[in-house]
Amino acid sequence: MHTFLQRVFLPLLLLLALGLLSCSDKGAQPAYRIGFSQCGDADDWRKYMLQEMKRELAFHQNLELIYKQADDNSQRQVEQVQELLAEGIDLLLISPNEIQPLTPIVEEVYKKGIPVIVIDREIATSSYTNFIGADNYEVGKIAGQRAASLLNGKGRILQVTGLPNSSPAIGRQKGFEDALREWPGLKVLQTYQGDWVKPVFGGAGSGPDSLLQALANTDLVYAHNDVMAMSVHETARRAGLNHIRYIGVDALPVQGMGMDMVAEGTLSASMLYSTGGVEAIRNAVQVLKGQSLPKRTILPTLVVDSSNVRMMKLQSDKILSQQQDIENQQLIMAEQRRIYNNQRTTVYILMVTLSLAILFAGLLWYSSRLNKQINRQLARKNEEISQQSEQLLEMSARANAASEARIHFFTNISHEFRTPLTLILGPLEELLENRKLQAPLRQQLSLMRKNVLRLLRLVNQLIDLRRIEFNKMQVRAVETDLIGFANEVVQLFQEIARRKQIDCRLLTGERSLPVWIDESMLDKVLFNLLSNAFKFTRENGSITLRIEKDEIRQEAVIEVRDTGMGIPPQAQEHIFEIFYQGDHDTHKGSGLGLALCKELVELHHGSIGVQSQLGKGTAFTVRLPLGNRHFQPEELAADALESDWLLDEQKYFDTELPTPAAAQQEDTLNPQPNGERPTILIIEDNPEMRLFLQLRLQSRYEVLEAADGNSGLQLAMDHLPDSIICDVMMPGRDGITLTSQLKTDLRTAHIPVILLTARTATEQQLEGLKSRADAYITKPFDMAVLEQTLGSLLANRSQLKEHFTGVVPAEIRTPAGKGDRKFISNFTAIVEANIGNDHFSVEDICKEMGISKVQLYRKVKALLDTNINEYILQARIQKARYYLQHEELTIAEVAYKTGFSSPAYFSTVFKNKVGVSPTAFRLS
Ligand code: FRU
Repeated sequence: MHTFLQRVFLPLLLLLALGLLSCSDKGAQPAYRIGFSQCGDADDWRKYMLQEMKRELAFHQNLELIYKQADDNSQRQVEQVQELLAEGIDLLLISPNEIQPLTPIVEEVYKKGIPVIVIDREIATSSYTNFIGADNYEVGKIAGQRAASLLNGKGRILQVTGLPNSSPAIGRQKGFEDALREWPGLKVLQTYQGDWVKPVFGGAGSGPDSLLQALANTDLVYAHNDVMAMSVHETARRAGLNHIRYIGVDALPVQGMGMDMVAEGTLSASMLYSTGGVEAIRNAVQVLKGQSLPKRTILPTLVVDSSNVRMMKLQSDKILSQQQDIENQQLIMAEQRRIYNNQRTTVYILMVTLSLAILFAGLLWYSSRLNKQINRQLARKNEEISQQSEQLLEMSARANAASEARIHFFTNISHEFRTPLTLILGPLEELLENRKLQAPLRQQLSLMRKNVLRLLRLVNQLIDLRRIEFNKMQVRAVETDLIGFANEVVQLFQEIARRKQIDCRLLTGERSLPVWIDESMLDKVLFNLLSNAFKFTRENGSITLRIEKDEIRQEAVIEVRDTGMGIPPQAQEHIFEIFYQGDHDTHKGSGLGLALCKELVELHHGSIGVQSQLGKGTAFTVRLPLGNRHFQPEELAADALESDWLLDEQKYFDTELPTPAAAQQEDTLNPQPNGERPTILIIEDNPEMRLFLQLRLQSRYEVLEAADGNSGLQLAMDHLPDSIICDVMMPGRDGITLTSQLKTDLRTAHIPVILLTARTATEQQLEGLKSRADAYITKPFDMAVLEQTLGSLLANRSQLKEHFTGVVPAEIRTPAGKGDRKFISNFTAIVEANIGNDHFSVEDICKEMGISKVQLYRKVKALLDTNINEYILQARIQKARYYLQHEELTIAEVAYKTGFSSPAYFSTVFKNKVGVSPTAFRLS
């Protein structure tokens, strides 16, 4: 997923962002806010000004106009400027109502760094950025000149002024009056204050009457704007005073206003006075752009009268229509822009949607691919798991069946064993009763009896365990005195205790202790525990069977304690498991006895435990509940049965086994004749096994014995026996190490070694064979197999020897002296080891054997009746014959492998010695 994001998602987002950026309005600039403070907008001139501004603004998308008008109220206008400041503006346009009241606020704004453009009416400070307006003095002056011209320099004039505190009013009055000074015949008889918009009344008198009186004596009215001129004209017309001429200011090209008034003849002339709306916006843009401007933008003025009014109107109409067109175009443009914006938004949305669609499609594709992969993997796993579970089921079914079959077989075979074993035991005991029996035979028969008994015990234990497993073993508890019962068992062991010099006794504080037990079961428990103790306790040790009554728990406590070698902690955990034999050599057992004890005690609703310390001893504790309430009714015997339990175990208890020492003693009293028989060395730490082997082999072989690896090696070196039977697990040097040593020593390498051990695992056997042992026989073994193996190995050995040393005369194949045998063994081993070495010489043999050339010649001549070189040549030829018959080697390879310097030389020698060429020999 991560790589997908890296490869697809992020680039796509980047692309989208780039796309959106490229779509955005590249011409967009920061927007400016222009505040426009108008003194009032009740009249058309001011409305026209605003229209002009808006038209011009249409060309500037980035400007925002915030408009406020003060209804010709100066105080209000000041407040509105403050509001604009608070709202935040980039530039102030102001057309002040009056000079003084507005001056401070304009200064304040300007000082804040906000540009100020003053329009039309001036203020009393230079703290502004730009002023836009016509020259009102000039306006007044032209008006004065036009009045003079209209009245031919003679007449009475009535002047109507604008707001006295407004700069246009001041300028227009002054300019007019200055112009009239040149015409003494012209007199301004009356000056009325019109305040730009009011109906003109007041003056010397007040009300319309005084105006009418004044008008009656007036030839010309000069009003500071057309609106006031029109107002006076209206008053005069109503009074029938039609002789008066009128001059106004503004000449606004709006219907019914100044321009039309001139065209109609209502006004004789009007001074064109532009609003400056367009210029105001243009100048504002320049200021905002940071471009420089002259301090004052003076708008031109001219006289509009009957002579130019038509043209002026046409022009202004044209301008108006053009402006209308522009407005229409702007509307269209605005519409187009709106459509464009809409379309652009649509495109953005489409792009985003498309990108998201692509993205999600990608994600979908990726996740579906991932899903498929996972599904495939899952399916595969599923398949594997179901196959495995099928296999497991099959295997477990097979294992179950096999185990069932094995157990079945085991039980059957155990039963089968019992009869023949019993049948062997009977005659054996009969034979042993014969007092005339020779000592060696008695020993063998006793050994047989002991082992038959042991086998019977094991078989019985196996059958018992099997019965318990299948709930076929039923406790038949009767009330028994445990002290008497235990005492009888202990008595059985007194004989063996005496022989092994072990102090074995029953210790108890109780005179009697009634317990409910199945005697035939509990005797097995005690017998097993005591047998175990005897097995692992050395001479002069002690074994105690202690019986106590635990009043608190209401239990009988039986403890069997020995001073034996102890059980390792790791073995203690498993000691009651069936078939558990432990790793500890000294604790090897059948793995049945203690398992059976546990089962039997548990059948009595009791418990068994062990406490042991290595090197100090072991204590097994059996706890049996007192009374019989813990038994089910069917577990209680109806009557006290006459038990034959003691006979049962006693039958299998060996009381007559002679000690190995005694056997050896007898052996020395009856030594076997030491003839020309092969010598066998038995290396075995178990004295009984050693004795057994010795007894079995002594009739055919000369038997040497060693109880451990070290003495075994010494005997092998000293006597060079014909074969060695060696145990694997022994104190000191073990059998495998010993075999390796024997096989790597030239002197002993030729001696066949049979490893004899209880280790059965394949790897262990392999280990044994890797040490170059000649045979590996596992215990328990069939003596016939061992004897056969021994016989075969010896026969093979002598055959092989003959095969390779065909020159050796028959009479010296079994030399008389052991020293000689050792010599020949060494000599032949050296020759054999160097058979492929074509530089091999007599000197090499002398060096290896540590004797002189003369000694060597003499000895070889005496023992083998041959010359050394002849012997070596014969050995090479023998080996070559072997290769030619058994290996797929070329003649040349055989030649080099048998130490000949060339194939041709080999062929010649071979033919000479064997009678046929190597090729012919191979084919024969
Ligand atoms: C409009 C007006 C115009 C005049 C100007 C002077 O309000 O009275 O007619 O020319 O103001 O400021």
